[in-house]
Amino acid sequence: MKSVVYPGSFDPPTNGHLDIIKRASQLTDKLIVAVLNNQAKMPMFSLEEKMEMLKELTKSIENVEVYSFDGLLVDFCEKVNSNVVIRGLRALTDFEYEFQIALTNRTLNKNIETLFMATTTENLWLSSSVVKEIAMLNGEYSGMVPLFVKNKIEEKISKKRGV
Ligand code: PNS
Repeated sequence: MKSVVYPGSFDPPTNGHLDIIKRASQLTDKLIVAVLNNQAKMPMFSLEEKMEMLKELTKSIENVEVYSFDGLLVDFCEKVNSNVVIRGLRALTDFEYEFQIALTNRTLNKNIETLFMATTTENLWLSSSVVKEIAMLNGEYSGMVPLFVKNKIEEKISKKRGV
């Protein structure tokens, strides 16, 4: 495969995302990490912050590029000349959501294929929302995100609390 798009909100990037990035980058010449610019979701991090974190986390993987996108994913894929989207699959609960996205994308553009990569068992229940919730409630989440991301989350929370 010449290039593969890995889209997501990445608010923030977790060890689960990073695992998919590392494994997917070995299957393609180029892996394009595509960060959705969606303020409607009330993200913890701005688009720029998310891109900066992803660039830092992937700087040692030569064939990974980090982009942002607005609008439809299929239009972004066309723009970057890719017809393959990869998504991580965790527990069964992901299925319906992921199938909806995959089938919608294929309806919008029949050339777009979606591949699913099974998560590792330790990341089965991991999500950005879970990380944010634990962090806000002062829980321990060191094994869920890279240290670099953990520090950024702590900074955000301290600022929010006015510490
Ligand atoms: O990390 P997420 O929030 O599960 O990622 C969802 C994402 C970004 C892949 C999806 O919301 C998306 O592709 N949005 C762009 C708008 C779009 O193309 N919508 C049609 C397919 S649902």
